[in-house]
Amino acid sequence: MSSTAEAAIVASGLRREFYPRHRFFRAGEPIVAVDSIDLMVGKGMVFGMLGPNGAGKTTTIKMISTLLVPTAGRATVAGYDVSRAEQEVRKRIGVLLGGDRGLYGKIPAVDNLRFFAALYGVPADLTEERVQRLLDMTGLTGRQQERVEGFSRGMKQRLHLAKALIHDPEIVILDEPTIGLDPDAAVQLRAVVRSLVPEKTVLLTTHYLAEADELCDRIAIIDQGRIIAEDTPAGIKRLVGSGSVLDILVRGHPRETTVDAIRLSSHSDSVSLVPLDRDGVSRIEIAGDCAWISERVVPILIADGYPVLEVRRREVSLEEAFLTLTNGAHRVSAGAST
Ligand SMILES: Nc1ncnc2c1ncn2[C@@H]1O[C@H](COP(=O)(O)OP(=O)(O)OP(=O)(O)O)[C@@H](O)[C@H]1O
Ligand SMILES: [Mg+2]
Repeated sequence: MSSTAEAAIVASGLRREFYPRHRFFRAGEPIVAVDSIDLMVGKGMVFGMLGPNGAGKTTTIKMISTLLVPTAGRATVAGYDVSRAEQEVRKRIGVLLGGDRGLYGKIPAVDNLRFFAALYGVPADLTEERVQRLLDMTGLTGRQQERVEGFSRGMKQRLHLAKALIHDPEIVILDEPTIGLDPDAAVQLRAVVRSLVPEKTVLLTTHYLAEADELCDRIAIIDQGRIIAEDTPAGIKRLVGSGSVLDILVRGHPRETTVDAIRLSSHSDSVSLVPLDRDGVSRIEIAGDCAWISERVVPILIADGYPVLEVRRREVSLEEAFLTLTNGAHRVSAGAST
């Protein structure tokens, strides 16, 4: 992990409470959206925050982007405190929050970018080249003269990204950058995000587990306002087990006694039976990667009358790792790896 001097973003004890509106006139319990978050994003990396709805991802990003004031704790961006040096922070960050706000629907895409370039003080002689490069980078070149109100959600999202990059910020903060994009467009956008590093630093949020796995150098899993794990994608997978799963495909739906026998002989913490609808086939998933697991389990299945169709070893998906962590079964303390 990088030292503070090499960090682009540092947050310590960051907290944000909201008072629900209907309780405005009486003292009620606040909603704790973000509860004492510590993170350090090293320069030149893509850092992902992954978590379920309402986990506190957007609230964290807004505090780091100076759009929301922290209730407690502090954060610095490029060494500047988000509460005390807002202007210095804003100059250095490009933020994508998505949605319909923040773009001008009545004017063409290209003029939106020219407008924001002027707003951010991009020198006039650099503007045109940069606008064209960003349109090209986000795949909007052919559509640049169209009014933004006619754009699809995915096209607006790409324009939001171009806008976030218009002043050539050293730190790019993206809230769910690929939301609303079709699979091809998402692949392209992820390539654009990846191309930003190591020159820039990227902090992003996502619901897409495969996206975090593919895109991020480090991932923080956030749940109920707290970081419950922070590591490399591979490290996150290691946290929840051996890293491998044995999938055994059998004909029929093994009865409970057979599954219990498999549990006993495999010594695995996790054995699950997934009945697949097609042709009365089931999949047995066993966490663990030892060859002897299949050597012990296959004879049990055959003896109990369930022909084995296939045995396959695979890596634990980030989705499985994520579910295990957010279900609380394998919670680790915040900042365990920092
Ligand atoms: N302005 C607000 N007023 C009251 N509560 C809020 C406000 N903004 C967020 N919250 C609450 O704070 C919690 C965290 O919300 P946040 O938007 O940060 O989550 P998120 O991780 O971005 O979720 P999602 O994946 O759905 O975007 C939620 O319980 C949410 O209802
Ligand atoms: Mg959000």
